[in-house]
Amino acid sequence: MWLIDSSVGRKFIMGISGAFLVLFLLFHSIMNVVVIFSPEAYNAICAFLGANWYAVLGTLVLAAGVVVHMLYGVLLSIQNLRARGRERYAVTTRQEGVAWSSKNMLVLGIVILAFLVLHLIQFWAKMQLVELTGMGGHEAHELAANGAYWIQYYFSKPIYCIVYIVALVALWFHLTHGVWSAMQSMGLNNKTWLPRLKVIGNVVSTVVVLLFISIPVYYLIITIFGL
Ligand code: HEM
Repeated sequence: MWLIDSSVGRKFIMGISGAFLVLFLLFHSIMNVVVIFSPEAYNAICAFLGANWYAVLGTLVLAAGVVVHMLYGVLLSIQNLRARGRERYAVTTRQEGVAWSSKNMLVLGIVILAFLVLHLIQFWAKMQLVELTGMGGHEAHELAANGAYWIQYYFSKPIYCIVYIVALVALWFHLTHGVWSAMQSMGLNNKTWLPRLKVIGNVVSTVVVLLFISIPVYYLIITIFGL
């Protein structure tokens, strides 16, 4: 099948799944920042996105997006590194660039995956999973839609604020570099659209990361200054 067999097909899938995940992150970051202004409003959103069929469907589609993006990412990285190895006697600047970018995207991707595992254990497993499976006692159920409680619980510990801030910086590099990397490996060189796409990619990535990072930074300041 073209989408699996051809390298252009694989890069296409990588770009589409990446764009889909960025849209989720944009939504997730806008939704989360509400917790700073109104924990009640944030919990109302959490309750709305609890274990309803549309939220569960959303989670499944999202999980599929993450799996596809990861598998194709590893596949493309191997392919790019191999191509670099085969042609090491005739390395062009472009090939060097693609190999360097692939390696970095892979490393950043692994850091983000490690963060995601921790994040899902901290939040998703205490919220949607509890609602879906009914596991845990009475207290676990009481807290399953109380996202504001869990955010406050974890971010009152400075170590988690720092872990999140570091992971979000890695996410910023992955997102900004991802747009560059996708265009580079697809061989795009349109003089009008290339700079525009780069600017759009950088602006969206920066907005997403600033919204996310404001949450641990806010709680860190509160904890440090005892506010
Ligand atoms: C300060 C930053 C963040 C906060 C406060 C936060 C908060 C949350 C909360 C409360 C949930 C549970 C929602 C529920 O199950 O009802 C959740 C789920 C999730 N978060 Fe985050 N998040 C943050 C950053 C991130 C980042 C950077 C990523 C990805 C790199 C991410 C990916 C996810 C995913 C994939 C889920 C599961 C979504 C689903 O069940 O559909 N989050 N997050």
